[in-house]
Amino acid sequence: MTEPRTLFTVAALQSQPVFGDVAANLATLDAQLAGLEADLIVLPELCVSGYSLRDRAEAFDLAECFPDGPLSERLLALSEVTGGMIVAGFAERDGDRIYNAAAVVAAGRPLGTYRKLHLFGFEREVFDVSEGPLRVFEHAGLRVGTMVCFDWIFPEAARSLALQGADVIAHPSNLVLPGWCQQAMLVRALENRVYTVTANRTGTEHREPRPALRFTGLSRIAAPTGQALADGPEQGTTVLCADVDVTVSRCKVLPSGNDVFAERRPDLYGGGPA
Ligand code: ACM
Repeated sequence: MTEPRTLFTVAALQSQPVFGDVAANLATLDAQLAGLEADLIVLPELCVSGYSLRDRAEAFDLAECFPDGPLSERLLALSEVTGGMIVAGFAERDGDRIYNAAAVVAAGRPLGTYRKLHLFGFEREVFDVSEGPLRVFEHAGLRVGTMVCFDWIFPEAARSLALQGADVIAHPSNLVLPGWCQQAMLVRALENRVYTVTANRTGTEHREPRPALRFTGLSRIAAPTGQALADGPEQGTTVLCADVDVTVSRCKVLPSGNDVFAERRPDLYGGGPA
């Protein structure tokens, strides 16, 4: 009997899409990902549409239904080659509803989508409110939880994924607050004893009436020890890779003997508005 795998390679693509040019952005993604072998590849939020959507009509034009649209088809084809999982941010159309979502595929098969729970700023005018759920997808022995960008500031999101058994949190992002999330993800990884893969974008967008936005780059893969395993540059595109060991992410016991999950006191964590 073969032992289950414990070591996996994860990767984050830091990209710089051109607003609204889905075909060009897909071609660039193809070139950036060519030859990349990883058990998990994470792409940024809204990775082929661009971010600064003016209104819902524009979002619908640039959206797709999973798993039938052009991005989904590329992800399925690419994952067939890698044999691993891919998580990519996109605008998901579902009837007359539209979500800021992450597509999840593995080895040529669609696994599902996660719809961003916490919409940032103007996104609330463009996208529908998601009812979740926060989800963990498993493929070939690796358990991957999904959240999107601003979900980071709500520690409950990463905690819920870790409690569901995630080894890795895949985190497609279009971050604009300088360095905030990049710092916080070290803590999300540490407090939950999981790996995190934040794939951020770079570049700028200025589409009236939206404010000018500068995306912060600095994509980051973090370890359950709270250390950065790989960091992207502030500007420019790149691919980051790191190895993850699921025996580490599945052990919630500290050298002190404390089990950071078993010793939680959820009965006492209430308070504030429901
Ligand atoms: C963000 O959630 N895109 C900042």
